[in-house]
Amino acid sequence: MRIDILTLFPKMFEGFLGESLILRAQKKKLVKIKVWDLRKFATDKHRTVDDSPYGGGPGMVMRIDIVDRAISMLKSKIKSKKLKIILLTPQGKKFDQKLAKKLSKVKYLILVCGHYEGYDERIRQLADLEVSIGDYVLTGGEIPAQVVIDAATRLVPGVVGKKESLEEESFSQGLLEYPQYTRPEEYKAMKVPKVLLSGNHKKIAQWRKTQALKKTKKQRPDLLK
Ligand code: 6GU
Repeated sequence: MRIDILTLFPKMFEGFLGESLILRAQKKKLVKIKVWDLRKFATDKHRTVDDSPYGGGPGMVMRIDIVDRAISMLKSKIKSKKLKIILLTPQGKKFDQKLAKKLSKVKYLILVCGHYEGYDERIRQLADLEVSIGDYVLTGGEIPAQVVIDAATRLVPGVVGKKESLEEESFSQGLLEYPQYTRPEEYKAMKVPKVLLSGNHKKIAQWRKTQALKKTKKQRPDLLK
């Protein structure tokens, strides 16, 4: 899987891409992630990437020609039809585990991060899909892009160990994780449930299932509908 990120703020990805899981996945050649500075695709000497909106109003609007030039360059490099262009915008389709799974199977992903007040409406036509990470407004698409990359790349086979991927499945089955404990057995009068110390694996499995259900009912009743 190859992911190309188009952004005006490439520095926002430095910490994220240096982080161990993503770095390890890249070293194992399971994913290749590259960040492109949209400003490099400006042609004038001031490297302008945005302009004031037609019809007036506050703020600036990202120009379509800048994004189009960047996408065309990537398309000519990639030369594959297995490519999906995603625009990160609060108006997009809500991101969830199901979409993460789908994107983890895409060979070439291009993520376009917007900033400023918005995009020229025509930029939407350059994308295959618009994605939002939730119902709140962020300053830009950089953090959403990192969310999408993290959720999708950890589902690429080999990126995380078998144990974790099984845990992930329990979420896609629609339940929250069961509670986990480690030593000490008692801390400030808070005890580890006895059943976990029993060594009875059948009982433990039953308990975990019940707890997962209970937790989901309490914290996320919407998942049970
Ligand atoms: Cl993808 N972008 C911005 N700017 N805000 C968001 C978002 C995306 N998803 C949720 N809020």
